[in-house]
Amino acid sequence: MTLPNGVLSVCELAQHVPVRSARFLLGIAGPPGAGKSTLAQRLCAKLGEAGRAAVVAPMDGYHLRNEVLRARNALARKGEPDTFDAAGFVADLRLLRETPVGTPVPWPLFDRAIDEPTDGGVVVRDEHIVIVEGNYLLLTDAEAPGWAEVRGLLDECWYLDAPRPVLTERLVHRHTVGGRTPDEASEKVAGSDLRNADLIAASRNRADYVLTAEGPSFRVN
Ligand SMILES: Nc1ncnc2c1ncn2[C@@H]1O[C@H](COP(=O)(O)OP(=O)(O)OP(=O)(O)O)[C@@H](O)[C@H]1O
Ligand SMILES: [Mg+2]
Repeated sequence: MTLPNGVLSVCELAQHVPVRSARFLLGIAGPPGAGKSTLAQRLCAKLGEAGRAAVVAPMDGYHLRNEVLRARNALARKGEPDTFDAAGFVADLRLLRETPVGTPVPWPLFDRAIDEPTDGGVVVRDEHIVIVEGNYLLLTDAEAPGWAEVRGLLDECWYLDAPRPVLTERLVHRHTVGGRTPDEASEKVAGSDLRNADLIAASRNRADYVLTAEGPSFRVN
């Protein structure tokens, strides 16, 4: 799709998502706390209002379970690329591409309240537009093994960016709401989230467009 440079509302972004007979997979990559899940849901809602069935398929559902991470001594690093089932994510993206519209494809979700993927998730079936959102959609295998195939399975991929102080504030807030003390939250953000953000930032130039929030709208570059 061709997005004009400038500031676009979510409604205008939705209008640029192409109409195709085959399924269209739009990726939204970006660092933790950038607002990917929020934008994906808003875009999905706008497409729905316009009579275009869309669904959000988050990468988050491919978090490895806590018992698996514990067994690998990786629980403290949860959120890093190798704490996800990248192979399962790639396989399910391929399945989404290969399955005709109308045939159900189950997709896992992540439940932040219990900090685990959910068994049920969502079922993609009649939707022509799938918004795939997550941190690691644009990585090369040199950056983290297992992720490089993702980009080729998406029709297009945006990168949602946000200034580092904004990310920091949002992530500290999230971790304190999740039960950490302010010190523990700051430590998690500095030691883990922002390191992941740096890795992700290296993939920014592989995006078709870079978006940054401006009020309720988005600047497109
Ligand atoms: N455009 C925006 N303006 C202000 N706040 C926002 C905006 N987008 C998201 N937020 C807020 O920022 C926080 C993080 O948003 P969100 O969960 O969508 O980020 P994310 O990129 O999906 O993060 P993660 O990678 O960790 O899943 C939320 O509290 C959300 O309400
Ligand atoms: Mg999210």
